[in-house]
Amino acid sequence: MTAASPLRVSAPARIASPRRYVLCRPDHFEVTYAINPWMDPAAPVDRARALAQWEILRATLEAHGHTVETVPGEPGLPDMVFAANSGIVIGGHALSARFAHPERAAEGPAFHRWFAARELRALAAAAETNEGEGDFAFAGQRILAGVGFRCSPAAHAEVERYFDLPVVSLELVDPRFYHLDTALMVLDDTTVAYYPAAFSAAARDVLNALYPDAILADGNDAVCFGLNGLSDGEHVFLDPGATGLIAQLRARGFVPVPLDLSELRKGGGGVKCCVLELHTRRDTTVR
Ligand code: ARG
Repeated sequence: MTAASPLRVSAPARIASPRRYVLCRPDHFEVTYAINPWMDPAAPVDRARALAQWEILRATLEAHGHTVETVPGEPGLPDMVFAANSGIVIGGHALSARFAHPERAAEGPAFHRWFAARELRALAAAAETNEGEGDFAFAGQRILAGVGFRCSPAAHAEVERYFDLPVVSLELVDPRFYHLDTALMVLDDTTVAYYPAAFSAAARDVLNALYPDAILADGNDAVCFGLNGLSDGEHVFLDPGATGLIAQLRARGFVPVPLDLSELRKGGGGVKCCVLELHTRRDTTVR
């Protein structure tokens, strides 16, 4: 007689794929205006500390096999470090940003010039207000898009036309989570994590229908900017304070890699905000 084997439910093995990321060194980072609830121009910012944290971000991404390119920051544009907002690049097609607030408006042309100097299949400047990967998350077969604080439905339509991919609009309702990437993270083409309370009831219904197995983060994960993490399909680079989310990621077979960007949080951004991904389009032969 053989002993019954214990029931073991193992998490699927996750496989990282090498990514191409664009970052902008926080040489000019400071908080001189407030355009989101995290920013307080009266609170001191330690730029040396911001630079040290950012260097660890860059080194950690490279140590995990990813390619990092950097855009030079510009004086007078303290939020340029948040390179996720520079645009959207999928399969060599780039759409550069048009910022909602006048304080960041000059970043649009600055990032556009950087894109224009690269070899891309196509480049256009957004005609509608569009803060790039802040509000648009490429999720394989579709693009998830935030609406409510920075982007308009017209911007979603423009992105859908430009990339010829379905755009799923999700309404954000909590001003602390003003960009989609503060409330939702794409882990791989079929898995997302998000903070439900950041979304309208209608958006929660859409997310639930598209991703019934999604990881649901709690309020602590969200205020730590844990959802502002970055996944390569296996490693998830995120704030170490997001303990509940970290435990859930581990249970699902992902490998959390803690990154502290608390000094940059004073500008209202975390790991993902500092990174634009140059996405490969996996559903077609377009590279
Ligand atoms: N201070 C910047 C702003 O309010 C922060 C942007 C953060 N970026 C992001 N991808 N969520 O626009």
